[in-house]
Amino acid sequence: DEQAAQAQFDRIIDADGRIEPRDWMPAAYRKTLVRQISQHAHSEIIGMQPEANWITRAPSLKRKSILMAKVQDEAGHGLYLYSAAQTLGIGREEMTDQLIAGRARYSSIFNYPTPTWADMGAIGWLVDGAAIANQVPLCRASYGPYGRAMVRICKEESFHQRQGFEILLELSQGTEAQHRMAQDAVDRWYWPSLMMFGPPDDESPNSAQSMAWNIKRFSNDELRQRFVGMLVPQAEVLGLTLPDPNLAWNDETGAYDMSEIDWTEFHEVLAGRGPCNAQRLQHRRQAHEDGAWVREAAHAYAATQATTEQV
Ligand code: ACO
Repeated sequence: DEQAAQAQFDRIIDADGRIEPRDWMPAAYRKTLVRQISQHAHSEIIGMQPEANWITRAPSLKRKSILMAKVQDEAGHGLYLYSAAQTLGIGREEMTDQLIAGRARYSSIFNYPTPTWADMGAIGWLVDGAAIANQVPLCRASYGPYGRAMVRICKEESFHQRQGFEILLELSQGTEAQHRMAQDAVDRWYWPSLMMFGPPDDESPNSAQSMAWNIKRFSNDELRQRFVGMLVPQAEVLGLTLPDPNLAWNDETGAYDMSEIDWTEFHEVLAGRGPCNAQRLQHRRQAHEDGAWVREAAHAYAATQATTEQV
């Protein structure tokens, strides 16, 4: 009965074990996982757009092949994550419909434009860096299919982060104009990358329950602090400045002091009013419509196969 099933679920969570698709789970646990995993999957898919913008204009054949591979990795991440969500009983078509109807969330970060090549460096260093800080602990998420998908995703994200760092390093050590371009990209991406970790802890409605269920292992602010701690020495190596005059290590608190994040901007982007929200959704909708013939062909093929097997 339900009480026994709940007790068994609680025992697994208390022992830091894994919940698998066929296990009983509370409806709210299932719901929060679908919410987080579908948001995460959509982020990977929408996240292909800002970088795809530079594939045809990458400065060399080598850079172009690296960027293409990276954008393909993101498609792969989206697909693992949609599959993980599907094990919870939601279909990929339903998730896609929610996304193109503008009813699903995806990370705020992908609503910013990529006007220069240095943005490819800043996305790798800052955006993929933030993704790693957020996602390495998710490899230990209590839901098996999600945690396992994160392992490979994190390995690939580490490679992405290094390629971004390397782009910025080369630009930073290049001509004066290249150095300025790198600094400008870091200036534009730094604050949005800090917003990727979500609202401050005291305004994060989902954190406490997600941590109790061992889905999240650290709070939004803890991970944001950890990320900043990673960036400070790396910015020094890059010879670039993080655009926060108040950023300083505080011995007493054992954490970095920093300026207040512009939460109005964060909420505007979440409400669909960021610089590129409309464009990102429109592009995704168009791609979905353009792909209709592939889905129809696949359905027709599947139907033919089904009748052939019956013969
Ligand atoms: N962009 C868009 N929405 C956000 C963001 C953000 N940066 N941060 C928080 N939100 C949303 C949450 O999804 C939640 O909305 P919902 O209740 O409608 O789902 C709401 O703001 C309140 O936030 P929290 O209570 O803090 O939500 P949660 O506990 O889910 O924490 C977090 C948010 C940290 C983003 C978490 O969902 C997470 O770790 N997700 C997996 C990682 C991920 O999605 N990464 C995507 C970007 S990285 C990449 O794909 C390369």
